Amino acid sequence: PIYPVLLCGGAGTRLWPLSRQSFPKQFARINSDHSLFQQAAQRFATSDFARPLIITGEDFRFIVTEQLAACELSPQCILLEPEGRNTAPAALAAALVLAETNPGAMMLLTPSDHVIPNDKAFRRAVHAAVPRALAGDFVTFGIVPDKPETGYGYLELAAGANPKADSPQALASFVEKPNADQAAQMLASGNYLWNAGIFLFKAETLIAACQEHAPDVLLPVQSAVSSASSDLGFTRIASDPWSNVPSISIDYAVMEHTSNLAVLPYKAGWSDLGGWDAVWQESGPSDSGNVLSSNATQIGCSNTLLRSESPQVELVGVGLQDIIAIATSDAVLVARKSEAQRVKEAVATLQERG
Ligand code: GDD
Ligand code: MG
Repeated sequence: PIYPVLLCGGAGTRLWPLSRQSFPKQFARINSDHSLFQQAAQRFATSDFARPLIITGEDFRFIVTEQLAACELSPQCILLEPEGRNTAPAALAAALVLAETNPGAMMLLTPSDHVIPNDKAFRRAVHAAVPRALAGDFVTFGIVPDKPETGYGYLELAAGANPKADSPQALASFVEKPNADQAAQMLASGNYLWNAGIFLFKAETLIAACQEHAPDVLLPVQSAVSSASSDLGFTRIASDPWSNVPSISIDYAVMEHTSNLAVLPYKAGWSDLGGWDAVWQESGPSDSGNVLSSNATQIGCSNTLLRSESPQVELVGVGLQDIIAIATSDAVLVARKSEAQRVKEAVATLQERG
């Protein structure tokens, strides 16, 4: 079977005020009655997948158990990190846990804060990636880029690779989060796909790659996982060795360095909802371009997202164009849609103020 490994320790500050430090993006209901995390867990609740491993922070353990129970899903294991150390240590901890019983275990490492509208097509893509992962590669899922986004990893196709194929293709390189000039060049060349941040590989493939490219991550993670303790359905990673683990993403620690990398082009829809502009886009705006929540009203607006999260708060927009307005019971965001990415600056400012 394939083990889904759901990463859900991130903060998601660009969707403030819906996403909060104590209740990050993946747990929020953004596009449906289910949270993004619930949708991710349900995506793999079929007989061809094992029960999922969840890796998250201590603070989120009850949100995770409640949200899984609400969908009648039971996890293989809920691994708790004493502190977030980014995705390389988290993925490696899951790999080490799986490798204890089966080093060849196949892991599907996936964020839990993305939108993948066609679950069936995605499961089909995962199966198409299996032979390559069995052979010892990391298979990533590649998205055709349509803008010079600097928040993604870029996958350079090898000579002769087909960006439209339904089978894994060879890669020449992996560039994580390029600067704006590099991103514009890569987009123009037509020879790159975006890394969707989802990887299929064997537990032992990741462990070996860390041994080679990130031994400073491997050693403390190994020692923290080997002294983990289990209670009440949680596996708690030991905090003493974990505090020595460097904070680094799997993209920088492993994917930029390994040559065992292939890509499965994926064309059936994907978004990482990396800001309110993306939420507006994914909500399928009406003819006038407006997206409204149930207690929001627009008069003469266009291309505007008006969303009230509180039944007590009526939100009304008059004569607005290209605006995002989000109201919760204790905070209101109003932003120009083209500057929605700057919400993370606002969060930083609020944090400084305490
Ligand atoms: N358990 C755990 N612990 N999860 C974490 C941690 C951590 O310390 N840090 C982040 N995560 C989770 C996030 O919640 C998210 O679901 C996932 O891991 C990916 O982390 P992000 O912080 O969202 O990464 P990113 O969006 O900047 O970049 C990655 O995704 C892009 C596509 O969305 C990279 O893989 C890029 O190359 C890729 O293009
Ligand atoms: Mg992300």
